[in-house]
Amino acid sequence: MRIVVLAGSPHKNGTSNTLVNEFVRGAKDTGKDVEIIDLAHTDIHPCIGCDACGMNGDCIQGDKGNEILNKILESDALIFASPVYYYNVSSQLKMMIDRFYAKTMKITNKNLKAGVIMTAWNNDDDFTYGAIDKYFDTIFSYMHFQDIGRIYGKGCGTVSMMPKKYYEEAYKLGKDI
Ligand SMILES: Cc1cc2nc3c(=O)[nH]c(=O)nc-3n(C[C@H](O)[C@H](O)[C@H](O)COP(=O)(O)O)c2cc1C
Repeated sequence: MRIVVLAGSPHKNGTSNTLVNEFVRGAKDTGKDVEIIDLAHTDIHPCIGCDACGMNGDCIQGDKGNEILNKILESDALIFASPVYYYNVSSQLKMMIDRFYAKTMKITNKNLKAGVIMTAWNNDDDFTYGAIDKYFDTIFSYMHFQDIGRIYGKGCGTVSMMPKKYYEEAYKLGKDI
């Protein structure tokens, strides 16, 4: 199985990437092939809505967008990883999701497995992931993704704050996918 992780944090060793590393450990321990795409440090730009792709072609922008889309099309599973930024995913991750536009039909036809790994500072509320969870419900449904699980880390403001249970959840997600 080939897995692509879209990692949307600017912090290479931050909280969400720490959980991504646990996910990768679980996946590799069970023989899967994983590639992490560090969106914050990759040449990738927002969709400009030109429609040259017709939702079923190459993007005309000369950045890494097409290369990443092709990697997604060669994979069996996709992981969305991000910190919570103002009760949504980071703009680095959202930017790549918008770029799905060029290959929407091809990606949809693959029925990819998909999961979510996110971290937030907040600990004691039930609204931090409300909009985010609905967003992923909608995207997963629209893109015909098979939901393999979502880790919504709370009280994860820094790596030292992170409850150990999330490490275990991330490892298990990688192992069981
Ligand atoms: C621009 C920005 C917006 C944030 N918005 C939220 C928020 O809405 N809710 C929350 O709980 N934490 C918020 N945080 C805190 C981060 O989600 C938290 O520190 C997270 O662990 C950072 O993840 P990372 O280390 O993977 O980048 C925000 C942080 C930044 C920089």
